[in-house]
Order: sequence, then structure tokens, then C-alpha cells
Amino acid sequence: MESKNSPQEIDEKKENTMTSERKLAHLQICLEHDVQSRNITTGLEDISFVHHATTDLNMEDIDLSIKIFGKKLQFPLIISGMTGGHSFAQQLNDFLSQVAEKTRIGMGVGSQRAALEDTQARESFEIVKKNAPKTLKIGNIGAGQIVEGLNSTDLKDIVSMISADAIAFHFNPLQESIQPDGDTNLHELIEKVTQLINESSTPIIAKEVGSGFSRFDITRLKKSGFSGIDIQGAGGTSWAGVESIRAEDPIYKKAGEVFWDWGLPTAISTIFAKESFNGHIIGSGGVRNGMEVAKLLALGADAAGMAIPFLFAIQDHSIEKSLKYIDEIAYQIKLTCFLTGCQTIEDLKSVPLIISGKTADLLRAYGIDPREYSSRPN
Ligand SMILES: Cc1cc2nc3c(=O)[nH]c(=O)nc-3n(C[C@H](O)[C@H](O)[C@H](O)COP(=O)(O)O)c2cc1C
Repeated sequence: MESKNSPQEIDEKKENTMTSERKLAHLQICLEHDVQSRNITTGLEDISFVHHATTDLNMEDIDLSIKIFGKKLQFPLIISGMTGGHSFAQQLNDFLSQVAEKTRIGMGVGSQRAALEDTQARESFEIVKKNAPKTLKIGNIGAGQIVEGLNSTDLKDIVSMISADAIAFHFNPLQESIQPDGDTNLHELIEKVTQLINESSTPIIAKEVGSGFSRFDITRLKKSGFSGIDIQGAGGTSWAGVESIRAEDPIYKKAGEVFWDWGLPTAISTIFAKESFNGHIIGSGGVRNGMEVAKLLALGADAAGMAIPFLFAIQDHSIEKSLKYIDEIAYQIKLTCFLTGCQTIEDLKSVPLIISGKTADLLRAYGIDPREYSSRPN
């Protein structure tokens, strides 16, 4: 006999499908359109290392490994959370998790909201736990969902779904505002997030999606008990841009255009985090090569995250292409260490840096003297 759904069940089903469809549209837009920042940059282009012509290291001895959230990574690199929920996302998570495990870099998954709403979507996340038992795995859920009532039972489910070492709560008020059904009631956000962190035995990371965190934010995140901050500053993929392309209503379409470049550049937000935050810092948002990874580590990050470059690397399902891409990034980090006389990632964290251009102007405007970085001992 055909079972009939109640109106409430029909509504819930519609919402589940909407969440998965929205995630699929995001993937397609990112692959088919230019969604990069237009008039704002990460600021990393204003940061230079001091070249050591007399470097006396054996390049082969340089150790790029780090320990973060209890896991040892071979390189200080994390695939930022992107996908999950639908069959295309499952394929991507399948390939990306194999790549992460093979190269022993970290991997974040995209929002697990779809899997909480619809058990059929769970497999697209569970594949990550199966493929990558050893390396760092980071779960993901929107902070807005916590305001909506996500509780510690849901959080435990999110953790166990991928056997997560840490969970990222993504803060994306801009993205949510460029869509008709976005989570824009964020009343008591920090109180509710703090309560959930207190109830969690898994470390929680605060993650933006492309606008970074201000000093004010970082002070609040620290007080709330976050164990990590994943910067995701401006200068890379613009989520106002993605939503503007997806929007049909001119209100959202135009707002997305106007706010396309909104946010704090990745370099500036990473410097702010390093000023006062004691937990792990992931430098991210617009990171596109190994020298930029090294620059973020020198500014105070413990690892760097990249999203869209991995989407392009894995889009044709070539694990080899992605492995080659990671080899290239790792070699560029190593080369930066070699040319600055750093044997380890720890050494890289204190090398002198020359900060010029707009980033130096911005630092001065925020009361930071860029010479603090150039006067570090060689
Ligand atoms: C296709 C795609 C889907 C994404 N989905 C999520 C998500 O579900 N949760 C999240 O926190 N961030 C998500 N992001 C944002 C990224 O993690 C990252 O913060 C942002 O794209 C900036 O990094 P990038 O400049 O390296 O792309 C997504 C990014 C891409 C490209």
C-alpha cells in the first residue's frame, strides 16, 4: 500500500531536498563561473620573505610536518570544507578523502545539515570516515543552525558521522543574507554557541567562508571557548558572489554584487587572530600556492586551508591530478623554508617579513607597526 505523507512530512522533505539542491547549485556555480573576489585581495601579495642566499640547509632534511587537533600532518595543509549531501558531492568526498589520507593532509567536509535532515545524505559524509581513518577530519555545521535549535545530540551525530577530530561552526552572515531562505535570525548566537561548546568533548573551530574575523569577533570567539579559528578571509572565493549568481530576486542579486568584496583580507584577519587567540589558527581564504601557505604560517597560522583549488583539482575525478597538485604545493612550502633558512615549520613562524602596500597601510590604521615583522631576528 502506498504510504501517505503528512503535510509536515511533505514540508520537511521539501526542505531536505532544498538543502541538497542548494549545495549542488553552489558546486556548479563555482565550477562554471568566476566567483573570485574582484577588488579585494588576501593581502598576501604585500608580504615578502627575506631571501637567504647563503642558506646552508640540506633541502631533503626540511621537515614540513605539524601536529594539529591531535593529528600529525605531513604538510601544514587542510582541504577546506566544501561538499556533502548529494551524489556528486559523495563522489567528490570519496576522492578528496582518499587524497587526504594518502598525502596525510587534513580534510574538512561541507555542511552536514543535509545529513541531519535526510538519512540518505549520510553516506556522502560517512565515506570520509571509511577512506581516511588516520588523517585529520573536520566536521561542519552552520552557526545559524545552532540558533535554530541544533543540540548536543545532533553535534555528537555530526562527530560520529565522519569520526571527526574537530567540528567547524561556520559563521556566514553575509552569505545567508544574499538568499531568500537564509538563516538571518542570529539572536543569542554567541550565548547558544557557547553553551554547545561547553557541552562538547570534541574541539570546536570557528570558521568563516570568505569574509574573515575582526578583532572584536576574535575576542568573542576566545571567550566562547573555541579551540580553533579557521580564518577564511576575503580575497578568494566570494560567497556573496556565488549567491548573487544563484539569486533570482533582484534584491539579493544586486546586494550580492554590491557586497561581492566585503570582509577582512586573509592576511589581516590572521594577524588579528595571532594577537590574542591561544588555540589553533588555520590561515585560509584565497590561498592559491605553497608560498602563500608559508606566508600565513609566518604570520602566525598553524596550518593553511584551501577550498576551490581542490574542487578544480578533483572535478574530473583524477586522484593522480590532485596528488600532483599537493606535491606542487608541498614543494613550494619546502622551497620557501629552504630559501629562508628554516628547517621546520616552527622556524618559519618567526622569520622576518617585509609588509608593504595596502596591507602595511591597513595594519597602521589598526595600530600595528609593520616593522614588528621586519625587525624579527633572522
Ligand atoms: C563548492 C564549495 C562549497 C562550500 N561549502 C561550504 C560548506 O558547506 N561549509 C563551509 O563552512 N564552507 C563551505 N565552503 C567555503 C570554503 O570552505 C571556503 O571557506 C571558501 O570557499 C574560501 O576559500 P577559497 O578561497 O580557498 O575557496 C564551500 C566552498 C566551495 C568552493
